[in-house]
Amino acid sequence: MYKVFTVILLLFIGVSSATRSFNTPSNNLQRLTSDHRDKNVGFDICSTCIDEAVTVLNVLLQAILDEGIYATCGDLCGIVANKTSPFLGKVCDIACDAAGALEFIHLIVKADLDPIWYCEMAKMCEINDHGDAKFTNFGVYPNTGPQGTQFEIDCSFKSLNGTGTSMLRFIMADSHNQTSDNDFLIDAKKPGTYTEKIGLITASAWNCDPVKGLCDDFPIGTYNVTVQFCNGECGSHHPHSSTYDIGKAQFTVTKKK
Ligand SMILES: *[C@@H]1O[C@H](CO)[C@@H](O)[C@H](O)[C@H]1NC(C)=O
Ligand SMILES: *[C@@H]1O[C@H](CO)[C@@H](O)[C@H](O)[C@H]1NC(C)=O
Ligand SMILES: *[C@@H]1O[C@H](CO)[C@@H](O)[C@H](O)[C@H]1NC(C)=O
Ligand SMILES: *[C@@H]1O[C@H](CO)[C@@H](O)[C@H](O)[C@H]1NC(C)=O
Repeated sequence: MYKVFTVILLLFIGVSSATRSFNTPSNNLQRLTSDHRDKNVGFDICSTCIDEAVTVLNVLLQAILDEGIYATCGDLCGIVANKTSPFLGKVCDIACDAAGALEFIHLIVKADLDPIWYCEMAKMCEINDHGDAKFTNFGVYPNTGPQGTQFEIDCSFKSLNGTGTSMLRFIMADSHNQTSDNDFLIDAKKPGTYTEKIGLITASAWNCDPVKGLCDDFPIGTYNVTVQFCNGECGSHHPHSSTYDIGKAQFTVTKKK
């Protein structure tokens, strides 16, 4: 009966990617603050889990499409261990056991697992449900400059209770309201004040790869920048997810002299 149910569900959702993934930042953007991953073993495990989560969730979806419902987490995550690595199989086991096999499969089929939540369920990423954070000096500096300027988006923040595994989502809209989403993973923090800056390089057009060919200039104009700072993944409705703060600012790129 489960198998029939799954097949019906799949007809509705179609075959898609198993997860909303992190939007990889444009190569015009660069996080200027280091989170000392090398010094923080816990966060290293968390970011590895998140880097692999999209692959793992797609392996799981494919396995369910091929075989239907699996009775146990061991059977399902054995596929992951086989197709990726024993470590990722183990991570899958912990997350699956936390949700229960049936619920886990249901979440995958509904394409409703975000990487941070998955890795929190797998106990690979730190959780803080009483966290908070507010930007202290949000803005783009300078806020006008010719093409080629490196603008800095100041996302420094203060937290009274500390933060959970978090995300900075950088959204930029041009004058035609063309937007681009870029996500940065931020490790869980203890209470304190933190410097956090994102550099925006306007030497060439958005996402241009000089190796592949000639790059256009960064279009001149005024841009609106919105940065969301979220506990867990921005927009997620799962536990351990919320919005800490939203910053808005504008900057203008003028013609090169
Ligand atoms: C793992 O792969 C081997 C060889 O491809 C296969 O015989 C075995 O059944 C697989 N195990 C699982 C759990 O899928
Ligand atoms: C900070 O933690 C305290 C104690 O756990 C809690 O009462 C308070 O609501 C938390 N603050 C925020 C902003 O969540
Ligand atoms: C940019 O922000 C300003 C002020 O918040 C707003 O009036 C304008 O409509 C925004 N432009 C776009 C393209 O979103
Ligand atoms: C820009 O687009 C967003 C979503 O696509 C929309 O919510 C917003 O109202 C638009 N802003 C303007 C100024 O058109």
